[in-house]
Amino acid sequence: MEERIIDKEEIIGDNDNNIRPQYISEYIGQNEVKENIKIFIDAARMRNESLDHVLLYGPPGLGKTTLAHIIANELGTNIKTTTGPSIEKSGDLAAILSSLEPGDVLFIDEIHRIPKVIEEILYPAMEDFELDIVVGTEGNTRNIKIDLPPFTLVGATTRSGDLSSPLRDRFGIVSKLNYYSEEELTEIIKRTSRILNFKIDDDAAQELAKRSRKTPRIANRLFKRVRDFASVIGNGEIDLDITKDALKRLKVDKYGLDQIDLEYLTSLINKFNGGPVGVETISASIGEEVTTVLDVIEPYLLQEGFIKRTPRGRMATEKSINHLKEMKID
Ligand SMILES: Nc1ncnc2c1ncn2[C@@H]1O[C@H](COP(=O)(O)OP(=O)(O)O)[C@@H](O)[C@H]1O
Ligand SMILES: [Mg+2]
Repeated sequence: MEERIIDKEEIIGDNDNNIRPQYISEYIGQNEVKENIKIFIDAARMRNESLDHVLLYGPPGLGKTTLAHIIANELGTNIKTTTGPSIEKSGDLAAILSSLEPGDVLFIDEIHRIPKVIEEILYPAMEDFELDIVVGTEGNTRNIKIDLPPFTLVGATTRSGDLSSPLRDRFGIVSKLNYYSEEELTEIIKRTSRILNFKIDDDAAQELAKRSRKTPRIANRLFKRVRDFASVIGNGEIDLDITKDALKRLKVDKYGLDQIDLEYLTSLINKFNGGPVGVETISASIGEEVTTVLDVIEPYLLQEGFIKRTPRGRMATEKSINHLKEMKID
């Protein structure tokens, strides 16, 4: 299957460690989040304590994983990483927790996907740095408590609403990552261009920024694809013409919507008369998983006013109706 520009990293991997910012000073945008985290890190260091637990949430590709690593780098500690879906037994989580060293960062990606019974192990671990586990076999079990070193849990999720409230309440720092401005994305693209040592004109960088779904991961992916076109059929540098040509071939439209976004809108408008329609129904009609629709496709369409959510389902807006009409004339 063709690589999809807005896929989640979990599926195809970012493979861009050289362009991933390592420190706060390299992390572009998200100014409020950055400033707060910086202060909390400084305060923790001054008191010689571990940083309070941090929950990062927001759509895929906005820099949650990057920020988790930055927090560990800024603290000067190790980071251990795992994901919610990979924790299948309470023993899995217990093993990770008991491997932590003082001050370590434990990063749990997709933390909303930890099974509820296992999640409960996290409560005393987060609150009292204590691991409560049940040992023994049926009829002959006992609880044992093991002291853990102070550590910082950094959780990331695309859906803060799916987190249970006892878990959410145990994070002292909760930060929402927002979509990036065009200026910030332009800066990210220029930074990528410097690191990969492949020149891009200012107007081309701006055009890419405009069409990146306000998302750094997509900006970097598009940069790499446009670079391919520039190397093979262009003159080895990225200018506006090659950018527009490449984006046309990649089927990314002027709003940064790709084929699947357009399929979603076409289905909503043509098959379902503009809605309201439920998310399961529309997902089935375009052959995408509900989670992909909820986490990847809809947040941007909502943010940009192409659709709206009503109690009875999703509805198309005038903006999307006009956009589809316009596309047909082209
Ligand atoms: N603030 C930022 N400044 C520069 N590059 C960024 C920033 N946020 C994300 N990126 C780039 O985008 C990619 C995707 O970010 P990532 O942290 O993996 O997103 P998430 O975990 O939220 O899905 C990173 O590999 C990084 O190169
Ligand atoms: Mg991530």
